[in-house]
Amino acid sequence: MTAAIALSDLVFRYGRGNFILSCPHLPFAQGELSLITGPNGSGKTTLSKLMCGILRPAQGEVRLFGRSAATLSLGEIGGQIGYLFQDPSRQLFAGTVWKEMTFASDLLGEEQTSSAEKALELLERFGLAALKERSVYYLSGGEKQRLAICTILMGGAKFLILDEPTVGLDRKNREILYGILDDLLAEGRGLAVITHENELIERFSRARLIKLENGQVTP
Ligand SMILES: Nc1ncnc2c1ncn2[C@@H]1O[C@H](COP(=O)(O)OP(=O)(O)OP(=O)(O)O)[C@@H](O)[C@H]1O
Ligand SMILES: [Mg+2]
Repeated sequence: MTAAIALSDLVFRYGRGNFILSCPHLPFAQGELSLITGPNGSGKTTLSKLMCGILRPAQGEVRLFGRSAATLSLGEIGGQIGYLFQDPSRQLFAGTVWKEMTFASDLLGEEQTSSAEKALELLERFGLAALKERSVYYLSGGEKQRLAICTILMGGAKFLILDEPTVGLDRKNREILYGILDDLLAEGRGLAVITHENELIERFSRARLIKLENGQVTP
């Protein structure tokens, strides 16, 4: 089966910096959970941005559902691969929760009734429906994160990459997040989660563990 994401012989460097990320062949299958771990500065965020086309490698290739990422626009990639930033505030900008959910579909001129239904269904599922009219600015950390995941799902992504999603969440919100991960996997989506959190690693002990050390990936 075609991998959702396949990295091969990647080499990446920021400008003339000293940090070099290298990655041999590394496929990510649809419907599976991969956990990416490693010390601070080992390159986890860099690897995840390469996986979704935010960064482009100097050498090697990223294939998304069988197509070279180099040939796809960020918009085309976003419809397939969703990315949750280490700080989800970075991806919220539209004003209210509702505007955040419908902004992209309005922009793309999608049919309003069906996108409103989809948005409401997602907000209900993620416990955010009561906050529809609230300014994003006044959401708690856990709410911001769930909203960011909702907006990714609005875009239709089949594979999600989450960069340190447990950071700043209390136990209750971590449990909610773990439930969301279970549900996304049960729906057949693929997930790559960057984490240092032992609790998450133990909770998902059957997941594949990918380790990064000094920019080197050990699958
Ligand atoms: N935009 C950038 N320009 C130059 N160097 C960068 C840039 N972003 C990251 N780096 C460097 O690349 C290396 C890897 O950073 P990266 O953010 O991928 O690590 P990380 O494993 O995600 O760390 P953390 O656990 O702290 O989030 C670090 O040495 C960092 O300073
Ligand atoms: Mg990081």
